[in-house]
Amino acid sequence: MSEKALVPDELPSKMQLTSDGKLKHCLTVEKLPPLLLDEILDRAQTFVTPPNATQKKYPLLRGKTVMNLFFENSTRTRTTFELAAQRLSADVINLDIRTSATSKGESLLDTIRNLEAMNVDMFVVRHQYSGTANFIARYCAPHVSVLNAGDGHHAHPTQALLDMLTIRQHKTSFQPLKVAIVGDILHSRVARSQIHALSILCTGEIRVIAPKTLLPEGIEALGVHKVFFNMEEGLKDADVVIMLRLQKERMEAALLPSEREFYKLYGLTEERFKLAKPDAIVMHPGPANRGVEIDSHVADGQRSVILNQVTNGVAVRMAVMSMVMDAQVQEKTKGLS
Ligand code: NCD
Repeated sequence: MSEKALVPDELPSKMQLTSDGKLKHCLTVEKLPPLLLDEILDRAQTFVTPPNATQKKYPLLRGKTVMNLFFENSTRTRTTFELAAQRLSADVINLDIRTSATSKGESLLDTIRNLEAMNVDMFVVRHQYSGTANFIARYCAPHVSVLNAGDGHHAHPTQALLDMLTIRQHKTSFQPLKVAIVGDILHSRVARSQIHALSILCTGEIRVIAPKTLLPEGIEALGVHKVFFNMEEGLKDADVVIMLRLQKERMEAALLPSEREFYKLYGLTEERFKLAKPDAIVMHPGPANRGVEIDSHVADGQRSVILNQVTNGVAVRMAVMSMVMDAQVQEKTKGLS
């Protein structure tokens, strides 16, 4: 299956909304209406529970079936989607792709059709090819919603949304913020979705810091205000520092001399982090490679919100799942009237 074949003709930003502007699928953050983005974050905040709290179950997805289709490895994302569905009282199935019929040559569409025939209401899809979630959303039954859990280097909307929620919990407003995204921007679907989200939220200064070889061409067009090749310059006075993993599995050629060299130039050490504002926070979508992009003292330090991101991951996924379900109910009611 070629990557090109998966790119559907309809824009994911349009395809994910109903004619009433409700979130029917969650495919991308790009061009998400600002009010809808705020609504997701507000709703997610209501699902955030303090540590040690007795987990509340909500009946919002009772009787619904969510199917996790992860064609690529994942720990945090798959587990938090699963927990989110369970906390909303849905039945959740994790399809083991390694033993599924797709690995025996069945086409993706055939697999989807068969799963739909089991009355699935929602697919959560992660795939190594950009456009897979859009493709499934385009061809699946009208009553099914698709949530993109990361496609190639294209988009990872719920990750960016949980990151925005985390920033919002620590900073009063996005407008005055200087946010620096550091590392392998070229292969990062997370960075792309974060840049879209930060732009929609009118972030004062969106910076990227990376070696030339790990920066996609025309990154400014996505909404980046400043590009830095020098880590020290880029970190200066930042309010939020987002570190990214080197995505070696997506690198087709040697884009870096070595991990050691990368750490020397771009690793976030305690010394370097001092260049950011004194109340700056550090984030990482995980999995973090200590000693490659981030020092352990920083990752585990007072200003690290990396584990808050994980907690918020459950809440954001609950918010998105409940909102697409609302859109489904509304569409069904419209169809009946
Ligand atoms: C990210 C991903 O899969 O894109 N991780 C995640 O979803 N928590 C980033 C990464 O793999 O480096």
